[in-house]
Amino acid sequence: MNREILFPTPVYMKMVKDPKKLNKYLYPLIRSWSKKDKGEEKTNAGGGWHSKTDMNFKAEYKPLTEELFDMQEEIYKDYGMEPKPGLGNMWANINYPGSYNKQHLHPNSQWSGVYYVKVPENSGRLFVEDPRPGPNIILPRRKEGLPRALWRVVIYPAIEGQIIMFPAWLSHGVEMNESKEKGEKGWRVSISFNFIQVDKSLKPR
Ligand SMILES: [Fe+2]
Repeated sequence: MNREILFPTPVYMKMVKDPKKLNKYLYPLIRSWSKKDKGEEKTNAGGGWHSKTDMNFKAEYKPLTEELFDMQEEIYKDYGMEPKPGLGNMWANINYPGSYNKQHLHPNSQWSGVYYVKVPENSGRLFVEDPRPGPNIILPRRKEGLPRALWRVVIYPAIEGQIIMFPAWLSHGVEMNESKEKGEKGWRVSISFNFIQVDKSLKPR
């Protein structure tokens, strides 16, 4: 017999060009920002720090936003979108040991994602859930070892220097940081963002 997979949910992953250099540059900026600014309360739970969401307008983060645009433009080609993406907002997260991000999605955006700056061992992984209502109501008993495309929840390890992008409507969250490291060594640092689709009349980049 033949089979088609309809209505797929794409998740894209890409390493930046020089992860060590970029993270060495980004980490002190984010650390000092977190000392000066008490941040916002969003999906961050358990005491994690969530910066303000205007990070995309700060010139010092251009080395990262350039990488994000490059990847988003590749996605536009792969997914057949046009004309151009715009970076709607961006923010930094520090998940101290014991903190996590509640399950959520990103309204009014097209693509959302994360970039990993600092990831201690056992500091929490990203999980995404089957976005379709049907399979979440009917949960048949199934065999072990099915292909990933048929799972209901998929977990991605956090990898320093990696960008992950997924549709903004895909429900996701971050596990609790269970690092045993003391002080800053136990901090999990990431940057989240939302891309929108811009009109031809707007300057995209
Ligand atoms: Fe998110």
